[in-house]
Amino acid sequence: MRTTYCGLVSEALMGQTVTLMGWAHRRRDHGGVIFIDLRDREGVVQVVCDPDRAEMFKTAEGVRSEFCLKVVGLVRPRPAGTENANLTSGKIEVLCHELEVLNASVTPPFPLDDENLSETTRLTHRVLDLRRPYMQNNLMLRYRVAMEVRKYLDENGFIDIETPMLTKSTPEGARDYLVPSRVNDGMFFALPQSPQLFKQLLMVAGFDRYYQITKCFRDEDLRADRQPEFTQIDLETSFLTEGEIRTITENMIRQVFKKTLDVELPEYPVMTYAEAMHRFGSDKPDLRVKLEFTELTEVMKDVDFKVFSTPATTKGGRVVALRVPGGGEMSRGEIDGYTEFVKIYGAKGLAWIKVNDLAKGREGLQSPVVKNLHDAALNEVLQRTGAQNGDLLFFGADKAKVVNDAMGALRVKIGHSEFGRGKGLFEDRWAPLWVVDFPMFEHDEEADRWVAVHHPFTAPKDGHEDLMDTAPDQCIAKAYDMVLNGWELGGGSVRIHRAEVQSKVFSALKIGPEEAKLKFGFLLDALQYGAPPHGGLAFGLDRLITLMTKAESIRDVIAFPKTQRAQDLLTGAPGPVDEKQLRELHIRLRNNPAAQA
Ligand code: AMO
Ligand code: AMP
Repeated sequence: MRTTYCGLVSEALMGQTVTLMGWAHRRRDHGGVIFIDLRDREGVVQVVCDPDRAEMFKTAEGVRSEFCLKVVGLVRPRPAGTENANLTSGKIEVLCHELEVLNASVTPPFPLDDENLSETTRLTHRVLDLRRPYMQNNLMLRYRVAMEVRKYLDENGFIDIETPMLTKSTPEGARDYLVPSRVNDGMFFALPQSPQLFKQLLMVAGFDRYYQITKCFRDEDLRADRQPEFTQIDLETSFLTEGEIRTITENMIRQVFKKTLDVELPEYPVMTYAEAMHRFGSDKPDLRVKLEFTELTEVMKDVDFKVFSTPATTKGGRVVALRVPGGGEMSRGEIDGYTEFVKIYGAKGLAWIKVNDLAKGREGLQSPVVKNLHDAALNEVLQRTGAQNGDLLFFGADKAKVVNDAMGALRVKIGHSEFGRGKGLFEDRWAPLWVVDFPMFEHDEEADRWVAVHHPFTAPKDGHEDLMDTAPDQCIAKAYDMVLNGWELGGGSVRIHRAEVQSKVFSALKIGPEEAKLKFGFLLDALQYGAPPHGGLAFGLDRLITLMTKAESIRDVIAFPKTQRAQDLLTGAPGPVDEKQLRELHIRLRNNPAAQA
């Protein structure tokens, strides 16, 4: 029997005989003495094999990396000068008495301590990758966070109820993963994009407070912070106001940080969506970056520079400046680099002014655009931005969406750059906030119709019900997002609990009564039986852990993740299936002639 974990052997066990099980992390042959760093999930301990025990020593000579071993030995101090302050076991070593190879290993495709492995290599050999301390720590923290979440929610009266995986489409804005039904020819289940509808039904059913840590599936374009299958901490409560739901969930995140990282999160600012867009061009502003937009739309209405005046005088257009303190030092090359960067977001250019010497008026400004701005406009720019000598002002002018996306991304890019850090434009801290008062709808240009910003079950603000028909663009929702360090960590809303309001939203979204009945009839029905006022929120667990571990990618906190192309390199999923299976599922493939039979 093992007496303790390798990583937990410390001075406390000095002089005792321990039995350890683990993997040979490294083996060093010091001509006469063999050292084996024995590793398990808790860490590494140094095992010393002396030739005086001949049989044991012979076994040690045959040990190679990643052999699975059993060691019985004596805990003794390391010789002076060979201690390792970074390890729990750094002051001791284990003098090996007995060594047993529980299982040999073929040579691993890479040394486990190689820091420069490609992600393809890591995901293909995921089992070995998971043995690395980095991945062990990430998944261990993930487990501890989930436990703290469960404890907190349990203490607060939330109960865990499972909801189906084979279900109907839940509209959360992504494509569904579909599962064909064998016994219902031509019919499909959808995997849930979230448990949204079921948790609302559970509120109608009177469970009062529900939670679930559960998988969600979304077939969407993948980015650094997204996975096609991911985990939500999903919760819902009855009878609480928007503010009360925010408090209870904020306290949960606060407690999780305290218990697992010993971090005291700061106060959460509460910012409206409108303010966030106005100041940062983003509904998930990274408040660690100390740069803000200056609104110039009004100022540029009558300038003789079409690049600025056209968006300033066009509905839906916007002109802003981003003042970069100390940015005057940037080279033309750097400015050109940022000009290319904003093009990714659809910006057509990036005008700028270097403020060399304010006292010299125009002469003191260096810029490709100053000649196009009359005195009043130029003065207003300098005043509003609060420009100082040595600053750089960047300008974005276009449709508001392009300006917000491009200048918002530029703000973050500069803030995080070496330049930004050097100038103190980035504060290394935890920066959470609530973004509230989201619009109910946004206009989908392509389809020329209104779509729900959150989801169609979100309640409008009190007094905004009628705006749904008359001015959908002005209708505000009882929806809120929790943002941390520029990432949307969670989002939720107060729901509609009256069938007639729900029908009104469907009609604003051009979902006719027939379609509404077909897709959501079960919800509309349930709402008729005294549905309580209710609301909730869902956090992205993977995102939370990525932030907490400061991992580079969301894939580093998931044991078996998918690549950017939604593939699992370990198992080779997705893969073809045999014809018999397809036939049973009543499926004929379009592009695979072999399966046409
Ligand atoms: P929403 O769609 O905002 O809301 O999702 C909630 C949270 O889930 C996380 N998330 C993701 N994480 C990883 N990969 C993805 N593809 C992904 N998509 C979303 C985010 C996000 O904030 N039913 C509503 C919640 C509610 O209203 O209660 C919902 O799903 O962290
Ligand atoms: P141009 O007159 O097109 O040569 O542009 C003059 C300056 O304005 C250049 O520095 C461009 O990068 C910049 N510019 C062009 N279009 C935009 C835009 N939509 N927003 C901000 N700056 C722009």
